[in-house]
Amino acid sequence: MKSYYLAPERIRLCDSLKSPQEGVIICDEKLLALYPELFDKSLAIYPLKASEKTKSWESLAGIYEFLAKNKLRRSEIIQVLGGGITCDIAAFAAATFKRGCRLKLHPSTLLAMVDAALGGKSALNHLGHRNLIGSFYPAEAVIIYPEFLKSLPEMELRQGKAEMLKSYLLCNELSEVNLQAGSIPNAEQIMEYALYKMRLCAEDPYDKGIRRLLNFGHSYGHVYETLLDYRYKHGDAVVMGIYSEVEQSYRKGYLPEADYQRIIEELDKYPLPEGLIRDVQDLDKEMVTRCLAQDKKQGGMVPIATGFRKVEVI
Ligand SMILES: NC(=O)c1ccc[n+]([C@@H]2O[C@H](COP(=O)([O-])OP(=O)(O)OC[C@H]3O[C@@H](n4cnc5c(N)ncnc54)[C@H](O)[C@@H]3O)[C@@H](O)[C@H]2O)c1
Repeated sequence: MKSYYLAPERIRLCDSLKSPQEGVIICDEKLLALYPELFDKSLAIYPLKASEKTKSWESLAGIYEFLAKNKLRRSEIIQVLGGGITCDIAAFAAATFKRGCRLKLHPSTLLAMVDAALGGKSALNHLGHRNLIGSFYPAEAVIIYPEFLKSLPEMELRQGKAEMLKSYLLCNELSEVNLQAGSIPNAEQIMEYALYKMRLCAEDPYDKGIRRLLNFGHSYGHVYETLLDYRYKHGDAVVMGIYSEVEQSYRKGYLPEADYQRIIEELDKYPLPEGLIRDVQDLDKEMVTRCLAQDKKQGGMVPIATGFRKVEVI
């Protein structure tokens, strides 16, 4: 097992799946069916259905009840296995149960390995808004098992690659991601991208400056997700958002023509789902502008592309 420490989290890379040995488990219910051998029957397990509806007060109450029933002490660990949804709500429960318990995350989707499980953000959806409520509560360890990706559906794998493509355009030190269907990033590349996110988070743990680079494509991306009633997945919407933000940077004169063309070439390698471009083009432009203004990430500094693989927060 390789271990990397970037305050405040420790990231571990594991070649083969290992069962958590202590504490209690909160787990995406799909993993229970897919990897029955992974669960030590002596540990209490709370299964969660991975849907945005799960990031709610009702599910949180269920988790608190489970933790209370199992008499979890603050010194004991909540082990979380799942994608971003499971990690987000379980981390919020860990942050708040008895004013904070120990937490280890075992992300099972590509998106969670390179993004959601890192950087300490926990979240609940509320009043129809995604991630309206949350806290910063970094896990003491994030354990990455690339083996989980073998069972991940192609569409979910693509959402992780979308966030990787975003990072690739942010930092010219990162290796290129193979965006073709069927290709799974190897352990080395997953760690490269996970550590890139962690570097930004270590520098700006509360998301007030440089970490906002990671919002590249997200202002427009959120608007498209919302106005299209969440018919498209987050990563796909973010890639559409990057197209729009790059276009804006170019029009406003921040981005030279040649760099603009190079970025578009890279974006064009991403296999967007059928219908998304047309649906975005059909959106009412005034509505998009109004919705953009409401986006919480509009407050303060925003990422602007100023070159090929060069983005600044301005
Ligand atoms: N906290 C953060 O910093 C942060 C960052 C980005 C995204 N997020 C959040 O992450 C969530 C999206 O995360 P996600 O894309 O990982 O989604 P997810 O947790 O819904 O997982 C996607 C799907 O894959 C299934 N799945 C999970 N692991 C699997 C595996 N190994 N094999 C087969 N199926 C598997 C799940 O059951 C689900 O159906 C959103 O709620 C978003 O808000 C949080």
